[in-house]
Amino acid sequence: MLSISNSFISFYLLFHMLSLSGQVGGLKLRNPIMLAAGVLGTSGASLKRAAKAGAGCVVTKSIGRDPRDGHPGPTVVQVDCGLLNAMGLPNPGYKEFQEEINIAKLTGVPVVASIFGSDPKEFSEISSALRADAFELNLSCPHTECYGDELGRYPELVEIVTRSVKDRVDVPVWVKLTPNTADIVQLGFAAQRGGADAVVAINTLRAMAIDIEMGTPILGNIFGGLSGPAIKPVAVKCVYDLSANLDIPVIGVGGISTWEDTVEMIMAGAQGVQIGTALYRGYEVFHDITNGLLSYLERKSITLEQLRGMARRQL
Ligand code: FUM
Repeated sequence: MLSISNSFISFYLLFHMLSLSGQVGGLKLRNPIMLAAGVLGTSGASLKRAAKAGAGCVVTKSIGRDPRDGHPGPTVVQVDCGLLNAMGLPNPGYKEFQEEINIAKLTGVPVVASIFGSDPKEFSEISSALRADAFELNLSCPHTECYGDELGRYPELVEIVTRSVKDRVDVPVWVKLTPNTADIVQLGFAAQRGGADAVVAINTLRAMAIDIEMGTPILGNIFGGLSGPAIKPVAVKCVYDLSANLDIPVIGVGGISTWEDTVEMIMAGAQGVQIGTALYRGYEVFHDITNGLLSYLERKSITLEQLRGMARRQL
Protein backbone atom coordinates (compact mmCIF):
# COMPACT_ATOMS: atom_id res chain seq x y z
CA MET A 1 0.00 0.00 0.00
CA LEU A 2 2.85 2.33 0.97
CA SER A 3 4.71 1.63 -2.28
CA ILE A 4 1.56 2.31 -4.37
CA SER A 5 1.09 5.69 -2.77
CA ASN A 6 4.84 6.43 -3.16
CA SER A 7 4.66 5.64 -6.88
CA PHE A 8 1.58 7.81 -7.19
CA ILE A 9 3.39 10.70 -5.51
CA SER A 10 6.47 10.24 -7.75
CA PHE A 11 4.27 10.15 -10.85
CA TYR A 12 2.40 13.26 -9.69
CA LEU A 13 5.63 15.14 -8.96
CA LEU A 14 7.24 14.12 -12.26
CA PHE A 15 4.12 15.06 -14.23
CA HIS A 16 4.08 18.53 -12.71
CA MET A 17 7.85 19.04 -12.95
CA LEU A 18 7.78 18.14 -16.63
CA SER A 19 5.63 21.09 -17.50
CA LEU A 20 7.16 23.33 -20.17
CA SER A 21 6.01 26.55 -18.50
CA GLY A 22 8.49 28.89 -16.86
CA GLN A 23 10.45 32.13 -17.11
CA VAL A 24 12.18 33.02 -20.35
CA GLY A 25 14.08 36.30 -20.52
CA GLY A 26 11.93 37.79 -17.75
CA LEU A 27 8.58 36.67 -19.22
CA LYS A 28 6.42 33.89 -17.80
CA LEU A 29 5.66 31.60 -20.76
CA ARG A 30 3.48 28.50 -21.11
CA ASN A 31 6.32 26.95 -23.14
CA PRO A 32 9.74 28.18 -24.31
CA ILE A 33 9.05 27.83 -28.06
CA MET A 34 8.53 31.24 -29.67
CA LEU A 35 7.79 32.79 -33.01
CA ALA A 36 11.02 34.49 -34.21
CA ALA A 37 10.99 38.02 -35.62
CA GLY A 38 10.38 37.82 -39.36
CA VAL A 39 7.85 37.67 -42.13
CA LEU A 40 5.15 35.95 -40.04
CA GLY A 41 5.07 38.78 -37.53
CA THR A 42 3.92 41.53 -39.87
CA SER A 43 0.29 41.71 -38.73
CA GLY A 44 -1.91 41.15 -35.70
CA ALA A 45 -3.61 38.31 -37.58
CA SER A 46 -0.41 36.38 -38.30
CA LEU A 47 0.92 36.92 -34.75
CA LYS A 48 -2.43 35.70 -33.39
CA ARG A 49 -2.28 32.64 -35.63
CA ALA A 50 1.15 31.68 -34.27
CA ALA A 51 -0.09 32.19 -30.70
CA LYS A 52 -3.14 30.01 -31.33
CA ALA A 53 -0.93 27.37 -32.96
CA GLY A 54 0.88 26.96 -29.61
CA ALA A 55 3.79 29.43 -29.54
CA GLY A 56 4.86 30.35 -26.01
CA CYS A 57 5.23 33.96 -27.13
CA VAL A 58 5.38 35.81 -30.41
CA VAL A 59 7.94 38.33 -31.70
CA THR A 60 6.84 40.92 -34.27
CA LYS A 61 8.60 41.76 -37.52
CA SER A 62 11.14 44.49 -36.77
CA ILE A 63 9.49 47.89 -36.44
CA GLY A 64 11.22 51.23 -36.99
CA ARG A 65 10.37 54.88 -36.42
CA ASP A 66 9.28 55.68 -39.96
CA PRO A 67 7.50 53.65 -42.65
CA ARG A 68 9.95 51.83 -44.99
CA ASP A 69 9.39 49.95 -48.25
CA GLY A 70 12.48 47.80 -47.84
CA HIS A 71 14.87 46.57 -50.54
CA PRO A 72 13.89 45.97 -54.18
CA GLY A 73 12.94 42.38 -55.08
CA PRO A 74 13.63 39.58 -55.19
CA THR A 75 13.85 39.79 -51.42
CA VAL A 76 13.78 36.05 -50.61
CA VAL A 77 15.38 33.12 -52.41
CA GLN A 78 15.46 29.46 -51.48
CA VAL A 79 18.93 27.89 -51.53
CA ASP A 80 19.88 24.22 -50.97
CA CYS A 81 20.46 24.62 -47.25
CA GLY A 82 17.95 27.28 -46.24
CA LEU A 83 16.62 30.69 -47.17
CA LEU A 84 18.39 33.86 -48.19
CA ASN A 85 16.54 37.09 -47.45
CA ALA A 86 17.15 40.78 -47.88
CA MET A 87 13.79 42.32 -47.06
CA GLY A 88 15.37 45.59 -45.94
CA LEU A 89 13.29 46.08 -42.80
CA PRO A 90 9.99 46.98 -44.52
CA ASN A 91 7.43 48.14 -41.95
CA PRO A 92 4.68 50.74 -41.48
CA GLY A 93 6.44 52.62 -38.64
CA TYR A 94 5.69 52.14 -34.95
CA LYS A 95 2.73 54.53 -34.80
CA GLU A 96 0.83 52.36 -37.27
CA PHE A 97 1.87 49.08 -35.69
CA GLN A 98 0.46 49.43 -32.15
CA GLU A 99 -2.94 48.20 -33.28
CA GLU A 100 -1.40 44.96 -34.64
CA ILE A 101 0.26 44.33 -31.27
CA ASN A 102 -3.05 44.98 -29.50
CA ILE A 103 -4.80 42.41 -31.70
CA ALA A 104 -2.16 39.77 -30.94
CA LYS A 105 -2.28 40.55 -27.20
CA LEU A 106 -5.93 39.50 -27.10
CA THR A 107 -4.72 35.88 -27.25
CA GLY A 108 -3.15 36.26 -23.78
CA VAL A 109 0.21 35.11 -25.19
CA PRO A 110 3.02 37.66 -24.58
CA VAL A 111 3.90 39.83 -27.57
CA VAL A 112 7.50 40.95 -27.95
CA ALA A 113 8.12 43.98 -30.19
CA SER A 114 11.24 43.66 -32.32
CA ILE A 115 12.47 47.20 -32.95
CA PHE A 116 15.29 48.80 -34.92
CA GLY A 117 16.74 52.29 -35.14
CA SER A 118 19.76 54.11 -36.52
CA ASP A 119 20.88 55.48 -33.15
CA PRO A 120 20.07 55.22 -29.42
CA LYS A 121 17.58 58.12 -29.69
CA GLU A 122 15.44 56.29 -32.26
CA PHE A 123 15.45 53.09 -30.19
CA SER A 124 14.47 55.06 -27.13
CA GLU A 125 11.68 56.98 -28.94
CA ILE A 126 10.12 53.77 -30.30
CA SER A 127 10.35 51.81 -27.06
CA SER A 128 8.85 54.59 -24.96
CA ALA A 129 5.85 54.87 -27.28
CA LEU A 130 5.09 51.23 -28.17
CA ARG A 131 3.26 49.07 -25.65
CA ALA A 132 4.45 45.47 -25.72
CA ASP A 133 5.23 42.74 -23.17
CA ALA A 134 8.96 42.96 -23.98
CA PHE A 135 11.30 44.47 -26.55
CA GLU A 136 13.80 42.69 -28.76
CA LEU A 137 16.42 45.10 -30.09
CA ASN A 138 17.42 44.27 -33.66
CA LEU A 139 21.13 45.06 -33.58
CA SER A 140 21.91 42.35 -36.09
CA CYS A 141 20.10 42.68 -39.45
CA PRO A 142 23.07 42.05 -41.79
CA HIS A 143 22.06 43.90 -44.94
CA THR A 144 20.47 47.31 -44.28
CA GLU A 145 22.55 50.46 -44.29
CA CYS A 146 22.55 52.46 -41.01
CA TYR A 147 20.67 49.74 -39.07
CA GLY A 148 21.10 46.30 -37.52
CA ASP A 149 24.65 45.03 -37.42
CA GLU A 150 25.99 48.38 -38.63
CA LEU A 151 25.49 49.34 -34.97
CA GLY A 152 25.40 45.88 -33.44
CA ARG A 153 28.91 44.84 -34.39
CA TYR A 154 30.35 47.48 -32.03
CA PRO A 155 30.18 46.52 -28.33
CA GLU A 156 30.12 50.18 -27.19
CA LEU A 157 27.05 50.88 -29.34
CA VAL A 158 25.32 47.67 -28.21
CA GLU A 159 25.74 48.79 -24.62
CA ILE A 160 24.54 52.37 -25.23
CA VAL A 161 21.51 51.33 -27.30
CA THR A 162 20.51 48.69 -24.75
CA ARG A 163 20.73 51.21 -21.92
CA SER A 164 18.78 53.80 -23.91
CA VAL A 165 15.84 51.38 -24.05
CA LYS A 166 16.25 49.81 -20.64
CA ASP A 167 16.13 53.26 -18.99
CA ARG A 168 12.81 53.98 -20.74
CA VAL A 169 10.73 50.83 -20.25
CA ASP A 170 9.61 48.65 -17.40
CA VAL A 171 9.33 45.42 -19.41
CA PRO A 172 12.11 42.95 -20.31
CA VAL A 173 14.62 44.00 -22.97
CA TRP A 174 16.24 41.36 -25.18
CA VAL A 175 19.11 42.06 -27.57
CA LYS A 176 19.35 40.06 -30.80
CA LEU A 177 23.02 39.58 -31.65
CA THR A 178 24.84 39.22 -34.95
CA PRO A 179 26.96 36.15 -35.75
CA ASN A 180 28.81 38.26 -38.34
CA THR A 181 31.54 39.13 -35.87
CA ALA A 182 34.81 37.71 -34.62
CA ASP A 183 33.57 37.42 -31.03
CA ILE A 184 29.85 37.29 -30.26
CA VAL A 185 30.54 36.90 -26.52
CA GLN A 186 31.92 40.48 -26.40
CA LEU A 187 28.62 41.69 -27.88
CA GLY A 188 26.75 39.63 -25.29
CA PHE A 189 28.78 41.21 -22.47
CA ALA A 190 27.99 44.66 -23.90
CA ALA A 191 24.24 43.90 -23.90
CA GLN A 192 24.53 42.64 -20.34
CA ARG A 193 26.36 45.81 -19.24
CA GLY A 194 23.60 47.86 -20.86
CA GLY A 195 21.04 46.10 -18.67
CA ALA A 196 19.58 43.52 -21.10
CA ASP A 197 17.34 40.85 -19.58
CA ALA A 198 18.42 38.32 -22.22
CA VAL A 199 20.32 38.00 -25.47
CA VAL A 200 18.91 36.30 -28.54
CA ALA A 201 21.41 34.42 -30.73
CA ILE A 202 21.65 34.44 -33.69
CA ASN A 203 20.40 36.60 -36.56
CA THR A 204 21.18 35.51 -40.12
CA LEU A 205 24.64 35.04 -41.62
CA ARG A 206 25.65 37.42 -44.40
CA ALA A 207 25.41 35.48 -47.68
CA MET A 208 24.59 35.67 -51.40
CA ALA A 209 23.56 33.60 -54.43
CA ILE A 210 24.31 34.16 -58.13
CA ASP A 211 22.13 33.31 -61.14
CA ILE A 212 24.62 31.46 -63.37
CA GLU A 213 22.59 31.99 -66.57
CA MET A 214 22.36 35.74 -66.09
CA GLY A 215 25.68 36.13 -64.31
CA THR A 216 24.04 38.42 -61.73
CA PRO A 217 23.29 38.26 -58.01
CA ILE A 218 19.77 36.92 -57.41
CA LEU A 219 18.69 39.17 -54.55
CA GLY A 220 17.68 42.73 -55.42
CA ASN A 221 20.02 43.90 -52.64
CA ILE A 222 22.87 41.72 -54.06
CA PHE A 223 23.47 40.04 -50.69
CA GLY A 224 21.32 39.10 -47.74
CA GLY A 225 21.12 36.89 -44.66
CA LEU A 226 21.11 33.08 -44.61
CA SER A 227 18.70 31.27 -42.28
CA GLY A 228 17.57 27.64 -41.97
CA PRO A 229 19.29 24.30 -41.26
CA ALA A 230 22.73 25.39 -42.56
CA ILE A 231 23.17 27.90 -39.73
CA LYS A 232 22.03 25.69 -36.84
CA PRO A 233 25.53 24.47 -35.88
CA VAL A 234 26.74 28.10 -35.90
CA ALA A 235 23.83 29.08 -33.64
CA VAL A 236 24.48 26.15 -31.27
CA LYS A 237 28.11 27.23 -30.85
CA CYS A 238 27.14 30.87 -30.24
CA VAL A 239 24.51 29.87 -27.64
CA TYR A 240 26.99 27.52 -25.97
CA ASP A 241 29.66 30.23 -25.70
CA LEU A 242 27.25 32.98 -24.63
CA SER A 243 25.55 30.91 -21.95
CA ALA A 244 28.93 29.78 -20.60
CA ASN A 245 30.01 33.39 -20.12
CA LEU A 246 26.99 35.62 -19.46
CA ASP A 247 24.90 35.92 -16.30
CA ILE A 248 21.73 36.75 -18.29
CA PRO A 249 19.70 34.11 -20.17
CA VAL A 250 20.32 33.23 -23.81
CA ILE A 251 17.49 32.57 -26.26
CA GLY A 252 18.52 30.35 -29.17
CA VAL A 253 17.44 30.92 -32.77
CA GLY A 254 18.86 29.81 -36.10
CA GLY A 255 17.90 26.74 -38.12
CA ILE A 256 15.70 25.11 -35.46
CA SER A 257 13.16 22.94 -37.29
CA THR A 258 12.40 19.98 -35.01
CA TRP A 259 12.11 19.00 -31.34
CA GLU A 260 15.53 17.36 -31.66
CA ASP A 261 17.05 20.70 -32.73
CA THR A 262 15.28 22.30 -29.76
CA VAL A 263 16.70 19.76 -27.29
CA GLU A 264 20.17 20.40 -28.74
CA MET A 265 19.80 24.17 -28.36
CA ILE A 266 18.58 23.84 -24.75
CA MET A 267 21.45 21.45 -23.98
CA ALA A 268 23.79 24.16 -25.34
CA GLY A 269 22.34 26.49 -22.70
CA ALA A 270 19.30 28.20 -24.24
CA GLN A 271 16.48 29.20 -21.89
CA GLY A 272 14.08 29.32 -24.83
CA VAL A 273 14.13 28.97 -28.61
CA GLN A 274 12.67 30.87 -31.53
CA ILE A 275 11.35 29.36 -34.75
CA GLY A 276 11.56 31.24 -38.04
CA THR A 277 12.37 29.59 -41.35
CA ALA A 278 10.84 26.23 -40.32
CA LEU A 279 7.41 27.89 -40.29
CA TYR A 280 7.38 27.70 -44.07
CA ARG A 281 6.30 24.08 -43.40
CA GLY A 282 3.22 25.33 -41.53
CA TYR A 283 2.16 26.49 -38.08
CA GLU A 284 1.95 22.86 -36.82
CA VAL A 285 5.66 23.11 -36.11
CA PHE A 286 4.85 24.66 -32.69
CA HIS A 287 2.80 21.66 -31.58
CA ASP A 288 5.23 19.16 -33.12
CA ILE A 289 8.11 20.71 -31.19
CA THR A 290 6.34 21.11 -27.83
CA ASN A 291 4.95 17.54 -28.00
CA GLY A 292 8.32 16.11 -29.01
CA LEU A 293 10.11 18.03 -26.28
CA LEU A 294 7.66 16.88 -23.59
CA SER A 295 7.90 13.23 -24.71
CA TYR A 296 11.69 13.47 -24.61
CA LEU A 297 11.65 14.87 -21.05
CA GLU A 298 9.25 12.11 -19.99
CA ARG A 299 11.34 9.37 -21.63
CA LYS A 300 14.51 10.67 -19.95
CA SER A 301 12.74 11.52 -16.67
CA ILE A 302 14.35 14.93 -16.53
CA THR A 303 13.05 18.48 -16.25
CA LEU A 304 13.62 21.34 -18.63
CA GLU A 305 15.85 22.90 -15.98
CA GLN A 306 18.02 19.76 -15.86
CA LEU A 307 18.25 19.72 -19.66
CA ARG A 308 19.42 23.33 -19.87
CA GLY A 309 23.17 23.56 -20.38
CA MET A 310 23.55 19.77 -20.02
CA ALA A 311 26.17 19.65 -22.80
CA ARG A 312 28.41 21.90 -20.70
CA ARG A 313 27.97 20.03 -17.47
CA GLN A 314 28.82 16.65 -19.09
CA LEU A 315 32.40 17.76 -19.83
O1 FUM B 1 15.29 42.63 -43.96
C1 FUM B 1 14.73 42.33 -42.93
O2 FUM B 1 13.63 42.82 -42.66
C2 FUM B 1 15.44 41.43 -42.01
C3 FUM B 1 15.78 41.76 -40.85
C4 FUM B 1 16.74 40.97 -40.06
O3 FUM B 1 17.40 40.07 -40.59
O4 FUM B 1 16.92 41.24 -38.90
